[in-house]
Amino acid sequence: MKNNMNVLMTGVCGFVGSNMAQELLNRKYVVTGVDNLSQGESRNIQALSKYSSFSFVKGDVRDADLIHRLGHGTDIIVHLAAFKIPRYGHALDTLRINTQGTENVLESARKNKCRVVFSSTSDVYGKNPQLPFSEESSLVLGPTHVKRWSYAVSKIYDEHLCFGYYEEHGVPVTIVRYFGGYGPHQNLTWWGGPQSVFIDKVLKKEKIPIHGDGKQTRSFTYISDLVEGTICAMESACAVGQVYNVGNGREIQIVDLAKMIWKKIRPHEEPLIEHISYESFSGKYEDVMRRVPDLTKATLELGFKASVELEEGLPLTIEWQKQFV
Ligand SMILES: NC(=O)c1ccc[n+]([C@@H]2O[C@H](COP(=O)([O-])OP(=O)(O)OC[C@H]3O[C@@H](n4cnc5c(N)ncnc54)[C@H](O)[C@@H]3O)[C@@H](O)[C@H]2O)c1
Repeated sequence: MKNNMNVLMTGVCGFVGSNMAQELLNRKYVVTGVDNLSQGESRNIQALSKYSSFSFVKGDVRDADLIHRLGHGTDIIVHLAAFKIPRYGHALDTLRINTQGTENVLESARKNKCRVVFSSTSDVYGKNPQLPFSEESSLVLGPTHVKRWSYAVSKIYDEHLCFGYYEEHGVPVTIVRYFGGYGPHQNLTWWGGPQSVFIDKVLKKEKIPIHGDGKQTRSFTYISDLVEGTICAMESACAVGQVYNVGNGREIQIVDLAKMIWKKIRPHEEPLIEHISYESFSGKYEDVMRRVPDLTKATLELGFKASVELEEGLPLTIEWQKQFV
């Protein structure tokens, strides 16, 4: 790769974007970040303002002209801006922002002849009972009246758009499917994942809210590993036209995560836990009961391997999150 490559990053004020932009600047990339600040925070990019190789544009990925214009002179677009699982409604935002935004990014890449790295999600595997999820696994979703699936549907559509632009227009695309990122700059609500909410509750000595019996599992990936996996995919020539799981292969039950967080913050007290039934959610909700990535492809082709375990990553995240209590 040539030095000082120009990266256009959408969603730069979010959790992954702000951390990845910092790492790219450390590695001498020139980064232009765009974000409409709907979910992200300007404080997340405060530290980046000291770099002359960083610039920020407040704007919306649905603005095709803007995304086209920002693509001039860009080598790579890292597309992170998205609306995630619409737990509290706004499924139309999820569908529109994710699909229109991604098409605008791909059009810009086609016209400006640049590479695209697209951030997809483990949610696309949905309820597939066959674990671990490999990139060849089937994507098994629930019914359309359950709005959570609009997120997976939008990302699956986006992945098809990526392959369409790759095959029909020769746009070099790489798709990364993230599994449960956590760490500094994570969103402090459910938007940022259960660990965010659990840390907040324990710091305040409140009950940890657990959906259902808490036996559903996830795998959690520290932010430096998510960023490393994405940069590996971005810099690898063999990654063009490919999808990669990016995550940590360790599976943990949500109730055990809650107890682990409690123990790290309040080692001498019994955990306070509150179970919340799925029936009490507004509208019909479906949870994913197990989620574990098969990381063979990312390891063999990209040389990526997560290196930060929960025992190390959680204390760093807790320390960061203390300032908001
Ligand atoms: N964090 C994870 O664990 C995880 C897991 C799976 C997939 N992903 C995907 O990775 C990407 C980054 O996730 P994140 O956790 O950093 O999310 P985030 O919500 O923290 O960041 C997304 C950013 O996009 C911005 N944004 C939203 N709509 C926009 C629009 N219309 N125009 C411009 N900016 C807009 C938000 O303001 C926010 O700063 C997303 O595409 C997400 O779907 C993340």
